[in-house]
Amino acid sequence: MRARIAVLPGDGIGPEIVAQACKVLERVGEVFGHDFELVTGLVGGAAIDATGSALPEETQALCTGSDAVLLGAVGGPKWDDPRLPVRPEQGLLGLRKLLDVFANLRPVRVSPYLLHASPLRPEIVSGVDLVVVRELTGGIYFGRRGRYNENGQEHAFDTEDYSRREIERVVRFACELAKQRRKHVSSVDKANVLESSRLWREVATSVFSQYPELESEHVLVDACAMFLIRRPSSFDVLVMSNMFGDILTDEASMIAGSMGMLPSASLGEGRVGLYEPIHGSAPKYAGQDVANPLATILSAAMLLRYSLRLVQEAEAVESAVEAVLREGYRTRDIYSGAPEEERVGTERMGTLVAERIGA
Ligand code: IPM
Ligand code: MG
Repeated sequence: MRARIAVLPGDGIGPEIVAQACKVLERVGEVFGHDFELVTGLVGGAAIDATGSALPEETQALCTGSDAVLLGAVGGPKWDDPRLPVRPEQGLLGLRKLLDVFANLRPVRVSPYLLHASPLRPEIVSGVDLVVVRELTGGIYFGRRGRYNENGQEHAFDTEDYSRREIERVVRFACELAKQRRKHVSSVDKANVLESSRLWREVATSVFSQYPELESEHVLVDACAMFLIRRPSSFDVLVMSNMFGDILTDEASMIAGSMGMLPSASLGEGRVGLYEPIHGSAPKYAGQDVANPLATILSAAMLLRYSLRLVQEAEAVESAVEAVLREGYRTRDIYSGAPEEERVGTERMGTLVAERIGA
C-alpha cells in the first residue's frame, strides 16, 4: 500500500527517537512491500524558533493531508519562561485539537524480560496488560482560564469542563475496546467532589448499561492511583479525563519499568491518527544517544495497526521489540545489571529492532 506519514520530531530527544521509528517504518516498507512516504514537519520549540508559531500552518496542512502523524516530543528549558506568549506545548495541544483525536490509548504491558526494570516487585507487575483511554481534547487542558485580582490578591484559575457528548464518545470508545479484550472497564473520576466528575459518572453509567457483556466499575482517581501500584494486573481498560489520564499514565509507566517503554495512539472519528510516546522531550538527555526509542517505535506499530490497518506489520514490529529485549539489549533507562556489551544507545537500539523485522 501507499501511505503518507507526517513526521514531527519536535524538541529535545524527539529527533533521535523519531529517527529510529522512521528506520523501523522504512524496514517494514521494504519487507512487506509498502510505499511509505515520510514527510518531516516542524512542531513545538523547533517550530517557534523557525516560524514564531508552535504549530505553523504548513505543519497543520501536512498533518491534515496525511494518513497519520508520528510525533516525538515537545518542550525544553529554552522556551520555558512563563512570560513568553508562545509555548512548545501549544503545538502538541493544538495538533490534538486540530485532528480532533479525543481518545488517547496508552497501553501498559509488561515485557517478561523487563520484570526487574520496574521499581515494583516482579510478582506485582507480572502479567499486567491494561490500556488507559485518556480523553484528550477537553477538560481542564482546554477549559476557560485566566487571572484576576481580588482584595489585592492575584488569582489564577483553570476550568474542568466536559459536555455530555465529550464524555459519551470517549466512554463508548473504551467500551468498544474492552469488548475486544478481557471485557472489563473502569471509569475513573472524582465524583465525591467535582461536579464535572458527577456528570462523567452519570454518562459513564448510562453508556455502561448499553454494554451488558462488560463488567464495569467506577473508581475514584485517588484510589485508582493506589490500586495501580497494589494490583495493576486487575485492570483491563480504564477511561478517564484528560488530566487524570496524564497523571495516571506517568504513574503506570513505572509498572512497565520506564517512561521510555510506553507508546500511545490518539484517535477520533476523523481519518488521521496521532502517534507519540507518552514521555516528554527530556532535554537533559538530548543529543547524547542515550534515550530509549522503544516507546516511539511501539507508537509506530500502533500507527500501522490503527491508521493503516496493517495488523501483521504492527505485530512484526512488536515481536522485533520483544526479541531485542529477550536477547538482553537495554538502553540506559531499563538496564538493571545488563552486561556491558548489551547496553546500547538510541541509534543502535533502533537498528537492532529494524534488523529483526522479517529476519
Ligand atoms: C503527555 C504530555 C503532554 C500532556 C504535555 C507535554 C503537554 O505530558 O502527552 O502526557 O500533558 O498531555
Ligand atoms: Mg504527560
